[in-house]
This record gives sequence, structure tokens and C-alpha cells, in this order.
Amino acid sequence: VVTSGTTHEPIDPVRYIANRSSGRQGHAIAAAAAALGAEVVLVSGPVSIPDPAGVTVRHVETAVEMLAAVEAALPADVGIFTAAVADWRVAGEASQKMKKTGAAPKLALVENPDILATVAKRAVDRPRLVVGFAAETENVVAYAKAKRQRKGCDWIIANDVSHATGIMGGDNNTVHVVTADTVEDWPDLPKTEVAARLVARIARLFQEDRP
Ligand code: CTP
Repeated sequence: VVTSGTTHEPIDPVRYIANRSSGRQGHAIAAAAAALGAEVVLVSGPVSIPDPAGVTVRHVETAVEMLAAVEAALPADVGIFTAAVADWRVAGEASQKMKKTGAAPKLALVENPDILATVAKRAVDRPRLVVGFAAETENVVAYAKAKRQRKGCDWIIANDVSHATGIMGGDNNTVHVVTADTVEDWPDLPKTEVAARLVARIARLFQEDRP
């Protein structure tokens, strides 16, 4: 099971909160896993790229829908949580388009469920390997190690998003693979190559039967 893309959190029927995630890294991971023979469910938020071939795609809009689609796809051997899920949704979404009144509306936000942490901490049907992503601008590996423990996942793929060339929407990614006892610094690579290396590494782990 792979999550990808952004989520759209509605304000009213025509407006939403979102972020710049393109879905390219998550979609590439789903495609690479399918190419290695995995049966893949890709749970994708709204993106403008096509569905990858050979993958079952569940299209969702919101974080709450994404969690439900992920849970419906379990059990699975591996969960890879690449989506840039909106941290908050709007409390009391308006059922009609909000009109200008002269006073700007105040939006009350509530925290969304953390899909990665929810799945990683499941008592039943937890995937044998749970992989999260972390976008950091400083202390990349230290923050990733802390995030790995906090969220209860097995690996964190930490992106360094400090440099000006945009990771979100860009072609390349520079990642550090943080496991329980190792940190691998990968070179700057096309997202397709990050995906290929990641799924090859996962396949190796399952061949060794030591997730
Ligand atoms: N994630 C998720 N559900 C959320 C938020 C995040 O599944 N509601 C997952 C993402 O898919 C990713 C990881 O958690 O695998 C990122 O964690 P997050 O805490 O959002 O990291 P940052 O965006 O880096 O935020 P911060 O540094 O503020 O903790």
C-alpha cells in the first residue's frame, strides 16, 4: 500500500486547503513496486499526473478519506506513506459557497488523523514494514530519527528540502534512509531512481526474511 500526492481539505464547495505535493515520488514508488511484481494499491490524493500502470489506484480527496482507503487496503506486507497529508482540516465546512460580507471569515482548523502513525501503531494487520517520509530543512537525520520513533514506523525516508531547487514538484530527490540502526545517505537522484532503489532494498529485506 502506497500513499501519494496532497490532500484537499474543503472550506466550502469550491475552495480547499492543499499543498504543493505533485505525487511524483509516491507514484514512482508504486510503479517501481509493481514492476518488481508486487500487488500494489496506490491511495492517491488529487494530483495532475496519470495513474501508474499495473497498480490498483484509489482516488481520494481528504486525509480522512485517505485513512479509510488505506485501512480498507489492509492487510499488506508493506506500507509506504509518501503523501503530503494536510495536517489540518476546516471545522464545520460550509455547505454553500461562502460570500464576501466585508469581514474576512475566520477558519477554525482541526488536526487530521496521522495515517502513517495510525497504521504503524495498529494492533491488527500492521504491515511487516512501515515506511514514512519526512521533509526537513535542518537537522535532517536527527529529526528523522525522532520522527521514526514518534510515529512507530520502521524506516523514515528523510528529504532535505532546505535548498532552493524545489523538491515538491521537482524531478530529483536527495534522501537519507533511516532505519532502526542504520542511516544511508543517498546521492541526489531522479525520483524514479529513488523509487527503484527503495523497492529493491525492500525486496532484499523480504528475501532475507528479516523485516
Ligand atoms: N503523514 C500521514 N498523515 C498525516 C501527516 C503525515 O500519513 N496526517 C505521513 C506522511 O505521509 C509522511 C510522514 O507522515 O510519511 C510525514 O510526517 P509529518 O509529521 O507530517 O512530517 P513533516 O511534514 O515533516 O512535519 P513536521 O516536521 O512538522 O513533523
